[in-house]
Amino acid sequence: MSTTPREQPGRRAKDGSAAPAGQYNALTPDIVRQLQEIVGQRYVIHGDAEKLQPYSHDEVPDPEYAHMPDCVVRPESTEQIAAIMALATRHRIPVTPRGAGSGLSGGAVPIYGGIVLLCDRMNRIIEVDPQNMVVVAQPGVVTNEINDAVREHGLFYAGYPMSVETCYVGGNVAENAGGGKAVKYGVTGRYVLGLELVTPKGEIVRLGGKLVKNVTGYDLIQLMVGSEGTLGVFTEITLKLMPLPKASVDLLVLFGTAEEAIESVPAIMTTAGVIPTSLEFMDRTSVQAACEYLNESIPYQQAGAMLIASVDGPDEEHVRQDYEAIGELCLQRGAMEVYVADNFTTSERIWSVRRNIPEAFAIVSPHQANEDLVVPTAAIPKLLEAMLKLSEKYGVTIPSYGHAGDGNLHTRIIKNPDWPLDKWRKTLPLVLEELYHATAELGGRISGEHGVGHKRKPYLSMFLSKQALEMMRAIKRAIDPQNILNPGKILDS
Ligand code: LAC
Ligand code: ZN
Repeated sequence: MSTTPREQPGRRAKDGSAAPAGQYNALTPDIVRQLQEIVGQRYVIHGDAEKLQPYSHDEVPDPEYAHMPDCVVRPESTEQIAAIMALATRHRIPVTPRGAGSGLSGGAVPIYGGIVLLCDRMNRIIEVDPQNMVVVAQPGVVTNEINDAVREHGLFYAGYPMSVETCYVGGNVAENAGGGKAVKYGVTGRYVLGLELVTPKGEIVRLGGKLVKNVTGYDLIQLMVGSEGTLGVFTEITLKLMPLPKASVDLLVLFGTAEEAIESVPAIMTTAGVIPTSLEFMDRTSVQAACEYLNESIPYQQAGAMLIASVDGPDEEHVRQDYEAIGELCLQRGAMEVYVADNFTTSERIWSVRRNIPEAFAIVSPHQANEDLVVPTAAIPKLLEAMLKLSEKYGVTIPSYGHAGDGNLHTRIIKNPDWPLDKWRKTLPLVLEELYHATAELGGRISGEHGVGHKRKPYLSMFLSKQALEMMRAIKRAIDPQNILNPGKILDS
């Protein structure tokens, strides 16, 4: 059967880019029927706005970035995904892969409508191989569940996104998630040894395997990692595991000012000579917001900012030496208090505050930007300085928190509640532009771990050369010539 290309009115992404006229076809009842044949009728959501709505957005609070899909399909196998992609290619229907929807750049939002390909039924841990220290998982496995499955073998998976209890490992690979342990253990990509994926045309490709080393051809695995669902749909992921550390401790360090806290971050690594497992920064507004949200009370009243510094190691003695070095250095640099959390309950209370900061801010106002700037670690105090100056200049609240130890700070730019919406809409781009310029001048980038999605797309050319952008476009064209897989993300083709 054939479908007639049509211009899709209203298929305009919120970053201003529209799908070129006639690029995509409408989802006809016949195509819906074929999707039902592939995955089973009950696994296709179609024609019910209320049921489709949850798949129109991710965790970006601003409804500006949302867009409704025409249908959601929930495959349970690689072969079903291959059939869906082949069908979508034949009829030129956009397909947006989706994991748990916990992303923060609009990566899973179907900005030109079409099919959302939901990976929630691909949720099996296929194999734990303790001899090779790897786990093989389907993309819809909740990241935390990997650790539950491998702990009995004395192993752990080092990926630790802040949404670890809800996010899917497939999404972690697609976004190259960083998170709270990247300072010592690096980001998701370091652990991806093998991938099975489905191409936009519906071919099944296997890359790598249980191999620690592999230079047999171009490194397509690392090209796929962080490709934000634009180059392939992952169906099987082989991840490297690490020996579970025998001891660990978290420090909560209170400082009078945000500047004192952030300036201690590079010094912990250079002067005290310790690479902590985690080195997180939270300013007073962020801690307060999370504590109120959780109805938690940690001693934050007088502190201008806090650091969480975690250390792990082979035994308690090593860990003690490391955390004492960090504690002493922070006290020398003016810390008010160093709390040692050496049991699970206290650690979990501290980390829960940190993990819940985004949720706590998200309910404050739908009008806010959530940034993900990354700079060389030594430049992190300068980045904070730029944020504080902008907050004063424009009269907006700019709280910050995040993975300071790897140079990655999140900040929320929150609408002043007294401002009318049009003033906010005019001011936010000015603040962002200045913030991005400051970041670029420090040698930084626009996203450390959340990705570009469609949210940050307009600003990409501030950070990437024409040549680099053209190379990326050429890769996308080679793998997805019809531009049907998550179109309108990262770059316009
Ligand atoms: C965090 C998420 C926003 O670090 O990346 O909390
Ligand atoms: Zn983060």
